Amino acid sequence: MEPQEKIKVTRYFMNSITIIGSLMVLIATILIIVFLTLEAVSGLDNPYIGMFVYFAFPGMLIFGLALIPLGAWLIRERIRKNPEIGIPALPRLDLNDMHTLRLTVYFLVSTVVFILVVGIAAVKGYEFTESTTFCGELCHVVMEPEHTAWKDSPHAHVKCVECHVGPGAEWYVKAKISGLRQVWAVLTHSWPTPISTPIEHLRPARSTCEHCHWPEKFYAGRQKLFYHYAPNEENTPREINMMIKIGGTPKTPNAMGIHWHVGREVKFIAGDKKRLSIPYVAAKGLDGKITEYMDPAKPLSRDEITKAEKRLMDCTDCHNKPTHIYHSPSEELDKHFVSSTIDRSLPYFKKVAVELLEKPYTSSEEASKAIEVGIKEYYAKNYPEVATKKAVALSQAIQHTQKIYKRNFFPKMKVAWNTYPNHIGHFYTPGCFRCHDGKHKSPEGKVISKDCTICHEVLGQIQENIPAGKQVTTFVHPVDIGDELYKVNCSDCHSVGGHDVSAGSTHH
Ligand code: HEC
Ligand code: HEC
Ligand code: HEC
Ligand code: HEC
Ligand code: HEC
Ligand code: HEC
Repeated sequence: MEPQEKIKVTRYFMNSITIIGSLMVLIATILIIVFLTLEAVSGLDNPYIGMFVYFAFPGMLIFGLALIPLGAWLIRERIRKNPEIGIPALPRLDLNDMHTLRLTVYFLVSTVVFILVVGIAAVKGYEFTESTTFCGELCHVVMEPEHTAWKDSPHAHVKCVECHVGPGAEWYVKAKISGLRQVWAVLTHSWPTPISTPIEHLRPARSTCEHCHWPEKFYAGRQKLFYHYAPNEENTPREINMMIKIGGTPKTPNAMGIHWHVGREVKFIAGDKKRLSIPYVAAKGLDGKITEYMDPAKPLSRDEITKAEKRLMDCTDCHNKPTHIYHSPSEELDKHFVSSTIDRSLPYFKKVAVELLEKPYTSSEEASKAIEVGIKEYYAKNYPEVATKKAVALSQAIQHTQKIYKRNFFPKMKVAWNTYPNHIGHFYTPGCFRCHDGKHKSPEGKVISKDCTICHEVLGQIQENIPAGKQVTTFVHPVDIGDELYKVNCSDCHSVGGHDVSAGSTHH
C-alpha cells in the first residue's frame, strides 16, 4: 500500500463528528467506571443516579462509538467522490502493513474493553430494573402508596419483581414492555389516580406465589388474636381469639378448609371491574361434575353465562393485598394501643383520633396540622388536667397519629386505606362473602355456606358486654344488632364512616 493511503487513514478520523464521538466515549467510560466503583464501595442506592449509570452513560458510550466510524466514513465518501484519487468502495485490510496491523490491534483491544464496560453496565442495569429502588422509588409519587405499604408488610423483604414479574425470560420481556408504557405515563404525567386494580395482566399467581408458598406444605389451622378497643372513655380492650381453618394439603382429594379452593377448579364471573360482585360461580368436584351457583339477586341468562369471561380463581382472588396492605384508622389505633406506642389511658383517644383521621384532607401537611390542633384542642377543652399531666404521652400520641395518616393516606394519588378492597376476610369489604353470603344457590339447592364455623372457630372473647371469665364459642357482637349479624354483611355497616377519596378516579 502507498504511503499516501496511510496518511489518509488517519486523516479520515480527524473530523469533528469522530472527535466528538471519541470524547463522548472517553467521558462515558470514565463516568461509568467511577460510579460503578462508588457503587461497589458505598452501595449507592439512588434511583436517579442509577438511571444515569446504567442507562444514560452506556447509551452515550454506544452513541459515541457509533459516531467514530460514521465521521470517518463520511470523510472517506467525500474524498472518494473525486475519481482521480480512486479509492475503492471498501477499505483494503492488509495486515502485512505494520501501520494497518497496529490500527487493527488497537481497534480490537478497545472493542473488547468497551464491550466489557457496556456489558457490566448492562448486567448491573438488569439488576437495577429488578430492584425495589427502581420499582418503588423512581416514580416516587406514583408508587408511594404501594411502596409505603410494602415496606411495612410481611413481604417487605420480597422484591417487587418476585410477584409482579416472577422467573423466566418471557415475563421479563412482557414486564419491560409494559414498563416502557408506564415510564411514558410518568414522563407525560398521564398516570391514573388512583392506579386501577385488579391489574389485568398480572402474572397468574400459580407461577409467582407458589414459588415460595407451595400449598402442599400449608398446615391446617392458625390461631389468630384480633385486638380491638372500644371508642369509649376507657378505650376498653376487646379481644377475639380464633382458630382460622387454613386447610393443610389442599391439593389432596379430601382437602378441607380455606385452601380447599386451591386444589379445585373454581371459576367465576365478575359483575364489575373490581370483582366486588360475583353473580356466578362454578366449582368442579372430584368426579369432574360442575356445580353452578348463582346469586338470585343478580340472575344471569344462559346466554350471558356462555359469553361472559370466566376467571379461574387463584391466590390473588383472596390474597389481593398480600403486601400492599392498608389499615383503617380504627385498626391502626388498636395496633398502637396493643403495642403501647400510644398511651391507652388518654381518655377517648381512639374516638378522637379516628374521627380526625377520617376527615378529608388535600395534603399530608394539612392533615398533620389538623391532627395536632384537633387533639390539643379536644384535651385542652375536655380534659385540661390530662393535657398538662400527660403532656409527653399526648405529644407522642399526636406524632403517631400523624404517622398513621402518612402510612395509609396518599392524597396526591387519591389513595386512602379503603381505596383498594382487601378480599381476605369480610369485615370492611365483602371479601369471602362475595360468594359466601349464604345466598348463592345451585339449581339442586346447594348453597355456598355463610356458616360462621366453616372458616374459623371462636376460642374465646373478651368484651365489655361479656361477663369476665365466661367461655364464649360463638362470636358476640359488641353492640346488640340481633339477627342482622347473620343476615346483613358486616361490611354493609363497617365500611361506612371511612371517606372514600377514590370516588371518581381521574387523570392528571
Ligand atoms: C407479595 C407479592 C407482591 C410484592 C412483593 C409486590 N406486589 Fe405489587 N401487587 C401484588 C398484588 C397481588 C397486587 C394486586 C393485584 C390486583 O388486585 O389485581 C399488586 C398491585 C400493585 C399495584 C397496583 C395498585 C395497587 O395498590 O393494587 C402497584 C402499583 C404495585 N403492586 C406496585 C408494587 C411495587 C412498586 C412493589 C415493590 C415496592 C410491589 N408492588 C411489590 C403483589 C405484590
Ligand atoms: C420470594 C418469596 C415470596 C413470594 C414470591 C411470595 N411470598 Fe408470601 N411470604 C414470603 C415470606 C418470606 C413471608 C413471611 C413469612 C413469615 O412471616 O413467616 C410471606 C408471608 C405471606 C403470607 C402470610 C402473611 C401473614 O399475615 O403472616 C401470605 C398470606 C402470603 N405470603 C401470600 C403470598 C401471595 C398471595 C403471594 C403471591 C402474590 C406471595 N405470598 C408471594 C415470601 C414470598
Ligand atoms: C379462598 C380464598 C383463598 C385462596 C384462593 C388462597 N388463600 Fe391463602 N389464605 C386465605 C385465608 C383466609 C388465610 C388466613 C388469613 C389470616 O389468617 O389472616 C390464608 C392464609 C395463607 C397463608 C398464611 C398461612 C399461615 O400459616 O399463616 C399463606 C402463605 C397463603 N394463604 C398462601 C396462599 C397461596 C400461595 C395461595 C394460592 C396458591 C392461596 N393462599 C390461596 C385464603 C385464601
Ligand atoms: C368466587 C367465589 C368464592 C370466594 C370469593 C370464596 N369462596 Fe370459599 N367456596 C366457594 C365455593 C363454590 C365453595 C364450595 C361450596 C360447596 O360446594 O360446598 C367454597 C367452599 C369453601 C369452604 C369449605 C371447604 C370445605 O371444607 O369443604 C371454605 C372453608 C371456604 N370456602 C372459605 C373461604 C374463605 C375464607 C374465603 C375468603 C377469603 C372464600 N372461601 C372465598 C367459593 C368461593
Ligand atoms: C367463608 C369464610 C368465612 C365465613 C363463612 C365467616 N368468616 Fe369470619 N372471617 C373469615 C376470615 C378469613 C377472617 C380473618 C380475616 C383476617 O385474618 O383478617 C374472618 C374474621 C372474622 C372476625 C374477626 C374480624 C376482626 O377484624 O376482628 C370475626 C369477628 C368474624 N370473622 C366473625 C364471623 C361471623 C360472626 C360469621 C358468621 C356470620 C363469619 N365470621 C363467617 C372468614 C369467614
Ligand atoms: C347493623 C350494622 C352492623 C353489622 C351488620 C355488623 N356490625 Fe359490627 N359493629 C356495629 C356497630 C354499631 C359497632 C360498634 C362500634 C363500637 O362500639 O366500636 C360494631 C363493632 C364491631 C366490632 C368492634 C370493633 C372495634 O374496633 O372495637 C367488631 C369486631 C365487629 N363489629 C364485628 C362485626 C362482624 C364480624 C360483623 C359481621 C359478621 C358485624 N360486626 C356486623 C355495627 C354492625
